[in-house]
Formats: sequence, structure tokens, C-alpha cells
Amino acid sequence: MTALPEQLQSAVDTALRRFPQQELARAVTRLIIRYRQGEAATTPILVTPVDAAAYAGYRMPGTYAAVRSALTEIARQLPDFAPRSLIDVGGGTGTAVWAATDTWPSLGELTVVEQAPEVVALGRRLMAEAPRLRETVWQRGRIDPAAEAPRADVVTLSYVLGELPETTRAATVRWLAQSAGLLVLIEPGTPAGYERIVRARDELIGQERAVVAPCPHQRDCPIPPGQDWCHFSARLPRVGAHRVIKEGSLNFEDEKFSYVAVAGAGALGVEGSGGTGVVAGRAANRVLRHPVKRKGLVALRLCTGVDGLAEVTVTKRHGADYRAARDVEWGEEWAPSTPGHG
Ligand SMILES: C[S@@+](CC[C@H](N)C(=O)[O-])C[C@H]1O[C@@H](n2cnc3c(N)ncnc32)[C@H](O)[C@@H]1O
Repeated sequence: MTALPEQLQSAVDTALRRFPQQELARAVTRLIIRYRQGEAATTPILVTPVDAAAYAGYRMPGTYAAVRSALTEIARQLPDFAPRSLIDVGGGTGTAVWAATDTWPSLGELTVVEQAPEVVALGRRLMAEAPRLRETVWQRGRIDPAAEAPRADVVTLSYVLGELPETTRAATVRWLAQSAGLLVLIEPGTPAGYERIVRARDELIGQERAVVAPCPHQRDCPIPPGQDWCHFSARLPRVGAHRVIKEGSLNFEDEKFSYVAVAGAGALGVEGSGGTGVVAGRAANRVLRHPVKRKGLVALRLCTGVDGLAEVTVTKRHGADYRAARDVEWGEEWAPSTPGHG
């Protein structure tokens, strides 16, 4: 389970207490309907202070869990990466900054670019609770591929691509990658979210960027279009105001997300950012579903580094690989000691 950091949870709870319950509930309902429509936003969705607070209460826990989970996998692939600077574009209330600094404590220069003033104001207030985040620079501004590209060791774009007009997405992605050491794009784990990620991935590979995660290869995504979608899941607790807002009886939920992380040529010490190059640290295989664990066997659905998609069964007679398979989770790398075991 990935909970919000304590300081953030308590700051969000304080922010929510400023508004009557009913007003918040109405704002959350409006946001749910708006995000389900899934259309690009021609005008900002988060306008008023209650919109910003409702967003923080309703979306920050799930978004934090998703971003933290994606970054954890990326960090596993890049054990020597110790980034110093981060720019979170379309950063909202700054969720990705919290998740990134929890993943890489080396991060010190932090910037959020966000268009909506009330969202910036709330994001700042939340970060005031965390000494390591207090110096974060909040730039009020719109994504503009004609402007200077964000230059940082890590650039994140989390749950934003879907709000951009389709015609501007490719240019935005190229712009984001231009001066980024590592670029991380995260979208909802829906067919539409995956579709945006896979298109962005194609665009970035065309720009000679090296895919770091989740893909174990640099080739076309092997998932048959329209039949399935590559996504992952992060479990988070529903606590306090979040549970009230969600009006659910469960005390946890699973946030589904799709993502891709790419490194620039020569960045991060990864090799071969060209089409067929090998990237040091890229996963051998990626687990694409909850493994099916039965007595004496584990069945894994994999995206493999060499041979597209595969279903493999690891049994007791595979010894150490079987014990490893019992622990492996959806979204993690599967790197058997014996290649025949997956
Ligand atoms: C769904 S929210 C995601 C916020 C944050 N990245 C997160 O993961 O929690 C989308 C954010 O992108 C911002 N956004 C959308 N289009 C933008 C643009 N053209 N320029 C700057 N920010 C934009 C919105 O104001 C909103 O805060």
C-alpha cells in the first residue's frame, strides 16, 4: 500500500476542512464527471479554491501512489541515478514532486509549472508543511512548445497529456524531452491513457530517446491495438477525508496507470539511445498482470526483452526462480536466473 506522506495527508486534510462537506462533494462530483469525459480541456478544469481542494482530496492519494510506483520501478532500473533537479509540468498541486523527492532524496532544485492560480496557491500551502519542499519554485504558466524547453535531470508530466488538444501532444512530448535527462509521462491506466502513452513513446523513440521503463525493449509495443492495454496498478489506503470524499465502504483502492520513462542520448549513463541499442538497467522482462500463484506454480504474463509478449509458468522444479516468482508483482521486472524460466 502506498499512502500519502504524513505531512501531505495532514496538509490536505487541513485544506479540505476549510470547505463545507457538501460544497466539496459537489466539486468532486463535477471533477469525476469531467475527467470521465476524457476530452481535452479547452479551458482550465480547476478554477476555484474549492476545485483545487476537491482535486487534492479526491485525486492526490491515487496520483501519488501511481507516480511513486512508476518512479520506484524507474529507480530500480537506474540504481546509480541521483538526480538533482526536477521540473513537474502541469504539476497541479505538486503530487509528482512529493513522489519524486521520496524516490530520489538527492533532488534539491524543484520547479512546478502550472496554469491554474488557485491550484498553485494550494500546492504551495501543502508544501509549506514539508521543509525539504519549501523552496520549490512555482511558475504560473501554460505549456508552450515554442518556449524554452524545461531543462532538468527529471521532467515529469503526470495526468496531463489527456487534457492537451490531441494536435499538440506530439510537439509537447518532443519539447519536454528536448532538455530532460529523464522524461516521465504518466496517464490513467485506461485504454485511452495507454494509447496516449504509446503514441508519445513512438514519438520519443523517433527522437532517439532510450526507453528506460516499463518496456524491456525499444521496439514497437507488442500489445495488439484495441485488444489490450499496458497498465499497472498501485494500491492505496482510503483514509480520513479521502474515504469520505470517495463515499466507498472499502478501506483501499487500486489506482491504474500507464507510463513511460525515456532518457536522452548520453544522459544517465545509459547506452545506446538509438533504435536497437541496449540500455544498461532496462528490465529483462516486465510483468504485465497480477501473477497467478497456485500451489507449486506461478503463471506470468510478460512483455519480454527479446520476443514480444509471453505467458510463462514457473514451477517448483525451477528452484530459486520459483521462489523469486512467488514474490514478483505486477509491474515489476522478471529476471530469471535461467533464461528458460521466462
Ligand atoms: C489532472 S491534473 C494533474 C495534476 C498533476 N500533474 C497531478 O498529477 O496531480 C492536470 C493539470 O494540468 C494542468 N494543465 C492542463 N493543461 C495545461 C497547460 N496547457 N499548461 C499548463 N498546465 C496545464 C491543469 O491545470 C491541471 O492542474
